[in-house]
Amino acid sequence: MKKNRAFLSTSMLLCIVFVLGTTNLHAQQVPIKDTLQFKNGNFDEFLEWKDTRGELINAHDGGVIFVNGKYYWYGLALRALGQDKGENNGAATTIGINLYSSSNLLEWNYEGVILSTSQNVISPLRAPMRLERPKIICNIKIKKFVMWFHYVGYPGTHGQQIGLAEAGVAVSDNIKGPFEYLGHYRPINDSGAVKDCTLFMDNDTTAYFVFDRKMPEGSRCLHIVKLTDDFLHATDKWAKIDVANRWEAPAIIKQGDIYFLITSDVSGWKANAAKTFKSTNIMGPYIEVGNPCIGEQNQNTYNTQCTYAFNVIGKKNLSIIMLERHNTTNFFKCSYVWLPIEVNNSKELLFPYRKEWSLSSLY
Ligand code: GAL
Repeated sequence: MKKNRAFLSTSMLLCIVFVLGTTNLHAQQVPIKDTLQFKNGNFDEFLEWKDTRGELINAHDGGVIFVNGKYYWYGLALRALGQDKGENNGAATTIGINLYSSSNLLEWNYEGVILSTSQNVISPLRAPMRLERPKIICNIKIKKFVMWFHYVGYPGTHGQQIGLAEAGVAVSDNIKGPFEYLGHYRPINDSGAVKDCTLFMDNDTTAYFVFDRKMPEGSRCLHIVKLTDDFLHATDKWAKIDVANRWEAPAIIKQGDIYFLITSDVSGWKANAAKTFKSTNIMGPYIEVGNPCIGEQNQNTYNTQCTYAFNVIGKKNLSIIMLERHNTTNFFKCSYVWLPIEVNNSKELLFPYRKEWSLSSLY
């Protein structure tokens, strides 16, 4: 194993005890300002969502985690540049992963960079690079926040070779960081490259890494791998989600005893029709449910691609899907589209488009 592929674990032994909460654990009700509106606009609009400083929120393809009565939104900091052939302009970061906090899901305070890239030419985090689709879960056993992402090293151009398409792992005592970078590697074995990915923590606090595994001859399929108890490594318990052959941008949400896996087709930054799969067992087998979008632009996921799904604390049965409307002429201006998730009596998961909506409008 290459040196930079080994996990550095000394500081992990220094476990600072803290009180934490996530959507699954220690749920506390927070005051939700029901009158504020989520604004998604027309299908071709890139609406600006600004933080409390008045600056555009720069946290792409990330997620939301609930900790100690507050929501935290994290994601990749992109640049005000378009897309070149290698896609490593605005879509590659020179900053790293940004964090914002909020008590109402609409007004976000900038908390800073929680995982920084580096100017050092020998650093695995040398910028520009990509830490695509970062996801964070909390491990109560080791009292740490653990982040996994699709690692694409300098200069951020996708490739198949070892070191370019891998699972990156970072860890922190505090959601506000700084996260310590542990390394990058390929779960299952080195022949399958890691592309789009997500993390899911179940009610029993077991956790899973779901990723689009691309084989050398070009075939690709979503796979799920159970994480070790500390969430820092993949175990050898994994499954190929056969029905999700050539589906990416995975997000998992559990409703009752059903795991819904929401995905997109494979078409780069160009929007396509989303597809949902479901199972009563996290490891599968999954069955295809269909397109979760309905009405106008449902073949285009409303001109977005799936990012993450989470439960709203204090609003029974309300889950939100985070989608992203990619802007390939200026990645800094990709816009965020958040929609409430509905599960109907036939156990189908849907998220109809809403140009704008408030939490109170759902009740
Ligand atoms: C998409 C994928 C994104 C990004 C993009 C091109 O298919 O979902 O995460 O990798 O391709 O770089």
